[in-house]
Amino acid sequence: MDVDALHDRARALLPREVYDYYAGGAESETTLAESTSAWLRWRLRPRILRDASSVSTATTLLGTPVALPIGVAPWALHGMAHPDGETATARGAAAADALMVVSTTATRSLGEVAAASDGPKWFQLYRVHSPAYTDELVRRAAQAGYRALVVTADLAVLGRRLRDAANDFVLPPRITMANHPRGEGGPGSTLGAALETMASWTFDDIEHFAGLTDMPVVVKGVLRADDAQRCVDAGASAVWVSTHGGRQADPAIASAHALPEVVDAVGNQVEVYVDGGVRRGSDVLTALALGARAAFVARPTIWGLAVGGAEGVREVLGELAGSLSVAMALCGVSDVTDVPADLLTTA
Ligand code: FNR
Ligand code: LAC
Repeated sequence: MDVDALHDRARALLPREVYDYYAGGAESETTLAESTSAWLRWRLRPRILRDASSVSTATTLLGTPVALPIGVAPWALHGMAHPDGETATARGAAAADALMVVSTTATRSLGEVAAASDGPKWFQLYRVHSPAYTDELVRRAAQAGYRALVVTADLAVLGRRLRDAANDFVLPPRITMANHPRGEGGPGSTLGAALETMASWTFDDIEHFAGLTDMPVVVKGVLRADDAQRCVDAGASAVWVSTHGGRQADPAIASAHALPEVVDAVGNQVEVYVDGGVRRGSDVLTALALGARAAFVARPTIWGLAVGGAEGVREVLGELAGSLSVAMALCGVSDVTDVPADLLTTA
């Protein structure tokens, strides 16, 4: 089933305020609306007669071997989409041999999600409760086997999501942020109350986390060359170009458009990832040709989980993988680690 059809089915299944929370963006939703079409600034320049009889999508992300250059971006509160929550997503991602990035705001504890599958996982960090408690989460993540720490840096404060405001969105009954200390982030709390804001974080905090843990640190939410370089200087092993799915600053540059300047600045020093509006294999191929090592998806996996649980997540990742393999074969690309920049021209 293609991603748009899955989206329609998920919309029909989910309670209105839950659907709006997942689907929505901030302010005028300009960035959200542009995130998908932004990939169409480029057109492929297909190469012929390059022996496309075998196409490999396998790669490594910070040394983690994966079958696909497509990972599950961290997203909050999987338990609202499916009763098994993040444990189902972990099983689906593992079945596709894809990397899953598990959010701090998961409805299952980081240990429970780690144990749910053998698939590769990274942990995404927000500040929770206090700096000391946040550091403790980092230690627990390393102990549980997460292989990298993704520090999300674009949530100094929560963006203004007008759909959530109109719906008076709060965490539904039985939905609890399992990595929070007892009594915080439970049913009835707003997202703002549940999330200690990261307003005071600076590049020094990146340095702090890089020094605190042996896990490589990825900074997520980078949209500018100067910030990318400062992340690297602070000890980041990778940067992740993202607008947070259009949920934070708006109108902000689409990540597809920000990617080239970030690759220019730091692409020869660290790995660069991207997310935002990636909905088909050609988007992934475009991202790789622009210099990204991998692309991540959130909403397609939300719809997959809502409609089909672990199997739905596996299917949507399989659909993206199939679409990528066809795009590669049609462009004479046999290896995702070797996608030439001249595969693209502007539309
Ligand atoms: C997110 N995103 C996100 N990012 C993060 O670092 N931690 C989080 O907890 C969340 N939570 C979250 C919830 C929901 C409902 C959405 C849609 C997104 C952002 C996410 O990781 C990613 O950057 C974008 O969503 C990618 O864009 P697409 O694939 O959703 O278009
Ligand atoms: C969101 C947060 C939790 O985008 O990252 O809703």
